Amino acid sequence: MKIGVIEGSLRPGSTTGAVARWILKHAPAGAELVHLPLTEYPLPLFDWEQHPMAANRQYPNAQVQAWADAANECDAFIFIAPEYNHGVSGVLKNAIDWLGPELWEKASACIGIGADGGPRSVEHLRQILANFNQHVVRAQVGISIFLDLADGEINASEQKEKDLDAVFGQLVDAAARFQR
Ligand SMILES: Cc1cc2nc3c(=O)[nH]c(=O)nc-3n(C[C@H](O)[C@H](O)[C@H](O)COP(=O)(O)O)c2cc1C
Repeated sequence: MKIGVIEGSLRPGSTTGAVARWILKHAPAGAELVHLPLTEYPLPLFDWEQHPMAANRQYPNAQVQAWADAANECDAFIFIAPEYNHGVSGVLKNAIDWLGPELWEKASACIGIGADGGPRSVEHLRQILANFNQHVVRAQVGISIFLDLADGEINASEQKEKDLDAVFGQLVDAAARFQR
């Protein structure tokens, strides 16, 4: 099972890198984690006449095609969602807007990051992913930029480690149900 770990920020020095490194160290047995930072997929703002859901996985330029192909290969996703102005970052929303069948009826989990763990970006993301008929698991992790980072890395409490284990447990179960 392939789980894409999406970093939803393009900000130089973004804290999402530390979150991704923490998540990637915790790969559960039987799952391959695929790191998908948006910095490696430079996407135009959505400017296409077609709806991606009806595009038969064929996209108008190489960058979008590379992004869609990478998402298509994943069975499930962990979205690292920075909270920007009480919602998901514009770049993450734009990256999602470019996708259709690549997200359809797959499982996802949300990791928020912000002053108080990004609860509003996570709720916003749950709303967005519902449009893909996804199973977005109940377990989530909120990373506080003030409490959970030390020297540029995640300094997770025991509870946060448990929360991440719960995310992986529920995500692998949900993805397996979709695969049946
Ligand atoms: C434009 C902008 C808006 C932000 N809005 C919020 C916010 O509404 N709530 C919050 O907790 N943090 C907010 N922050 C702080 C981010 O949570 C912080 O930058 C965090 O590290 C998110 O990931 P990043 O490092 O990729 O920016 C904002 C940051 C930026 C740049």
